[in-house]
Amino acid sequence: MCGIIGIVSDKGNLKERIIEGLKRLEYRGYDSAGVALRKENGIFVRKKKGKVSQLEEELREVEVNSRVGIGHTRWATHGEPSDPNSHPHSDCTGRIALVHNGIIENYPQLKEELRRRGHNFRSQTDSEVIAHLVEEEASRDDFLEAVRRAVNRLEGSFALVIINSDEDALYIARKDSPLVVGLGEGESFVASDIPAFLPWTNRVIFLENGEIGRLSFSGVEIYDFQGKRKEKKPQVIGWSLAQAEKGGYRHFMLKEIHEQAKAISDTIGPRIERDTNSAVIEDLPLAPRHIKDVLILACGTSYHAGLVGKFYFEELAGLKTDVDYASEFRYRRPVLSPSTLVVAISQSGETADTIGALRKAKEMGAPSLAICNVVGSSITREADSVLYTHAGPEISVASTKAFTTQLSLLYLLAVYLGRERGKIDREQESGLLSQLLSLPSKIEHMLREQEEKIREIGVDLSSYNDALYLGRHLNYPIALEGALKLKEISYIHAEGYPAGEMKHGPIALIDENLPTVFIATESKVLDKVRSNMEEIKSRRGKIISLLSGEHPEIEELSDGVIKVPLVDEYLFPIINIIPLQLIAYYAADFLGHDVDQPRNLAKSVTVE
Ligand code: M6R
Repeated sequence: MCGIIGIVSDKGNLKERIIEGLKRLEYRGYDSAGVALRKENGIFVRKKKGKVSQLEEELREVEVNSRVGIGHTRWATHGEPSDPNSHPHSDCTGRIALVHNGIIENYPQLKEELRRRGHNFRSQTDSEVIAHLVEEEASRDDFLEAVRRAVNRLEGSFALVIINSDEDALYIARKDSPLVVGLGEGESFVASDIPAFLPWTNRVIFLENGEIGRLSFSGVEIYDFQGKRKEKKPQVIGWSLAQAEKGGYRHFMLKEIHEQAKAISDTIGPRIERDTNSAVIEDLPLAPRHIKDVLILACGTSYHAGLVGKFYFEELAGLKTDVDYASEFRYRRPVLSPSTLVVAISQSGETADTIGALRKAKEMGAPSLAICNVVGSSITREADSVLYTHAGPEISVASTKAFTTQLSLLYLLAVYLGRERGKIDREQESGLLSQLLSLPSKIEHMLREQEEKIREIGVDLSSYNDALYLGRHLNYPIALEGALKLKEISYIHAEGYPAGEMKHGPIALIDENLPTVFIATESKVLDKVRSNMEEIKSRRGKIISLLSGEHPEIEELSDGVIKVPLVDEYLFPIINIIPLQLIAYYAADFLGHDVDQPRNLAKSVTVE
């Protein structure tokens, strides 16, 4: 996955704005960065291994007065991170430059063919073939037609922005990788994601698969891959610039952790009818009484949300629910029926595995619902219906507010389905929703009271090589998610496990060098969790506990305690994950890691 941006503007001087846009896209990849700017007689290209800030430094003294330019920040797939493999890529003449996000699957054949026709390649990437293909076609056609003919030869996925040395215009094309156009005054933008150009416009057009276009100072023309003109209406996006900036926090992750109370309110508020305290769900692909079972498909953190969702759907709505890793589901021969509600959960809406799994489920005739944060993303367009989380832009690679808004929405949906299917009555519904509505203020209270304590625990944990996260029942998925957070940003090996399973193997690992984080908040299995703690303590293991209410015997067993407010049992997962996010954050920050852009990762994984 990579981030791409293009700007065409009658105001000129685009270098700084392209760099600024790239910084906002860096969450999509940060192996290398580059820009191409059209100058008086040619195209200026500068690209470099490393982060956008390194490229910025290199460009500090460079003056190019350009009215059209493109930029790229890379997450390497084909070809190691290096200067030559960085984008933009150019044709043989240097009169065409492009940036690409995606994978060209038939690039070996195309490269061979182009080589035979005399083209010289300078990189190991799949993307460079596109520049040479356009060069071939441009020798016999006008530029838009050349781009159209070239993209028709590509197999795989692509979001493309292409410039040539003769005109102030951007040429764009999309198949299975995101691309959004922004419309300003005397200027037009295109990028992988809206925050890249949010400082300059919030009027956007989402490009669909199979669309190609030309952007100029005055706007955009869009065609399909056969060359037929398409009319598309711009939408105004409600995201504010402040949401896409750090707002005084050291890192996006810390800001996003602190935004969770508001993000949950924004997600549930419009869906609860206040007079009656009842759930309003705007769009489902199947009437609740016709749903026989549920299948949740997702990856990573969103998969963990799905595991909690299974409890909600089964216990509140009486619906048998399976949860599958999207990457596994794709290659199985699953059993689905037209009355299986398939729920694809994704923050970005661009995760390749989740898109692939959703397509497979649709081919099998199942109705589908997307739970997604990014408006207009691929998953939202492919699913039959969409419920948006309103978390706002999540920039940090480690997902935080997306997760808690997904959980809140799953809970609300389960309450709605439970009511519509006659599993819970109006009074129970009202009680469950009152609990949900009280969650944001409890989260704020916990952050005020406990953050310093959590910071100390995180710093302490940073001195270990491994950690174990244990929870039972609804908190088992939270143990998985807590461990994932620690791994991905602090690089400390961590494992999430069902507390009751520990005695079947992992207990052999316990000694004074392996700390265990126990999720031990109020639940019907708390006594059993306490017994699991005793088993650890008697083997000299160090224990950190997440506790609610008064449990002196658990405090006695613990080396560190974090107090979580009392909430309904079903809502503990939503509040319990927050201290675990903070533990990971403070451990990683103490170790000096790049919290928002951890090594080897990218925000949305658009490759298989
Ligand atoms: O955008 P998605 O929710 O589909 O992304 C799925 C995973 O790639 C994502 O949750 C990943 O695990 C995060 N880095 C976890 O913090």
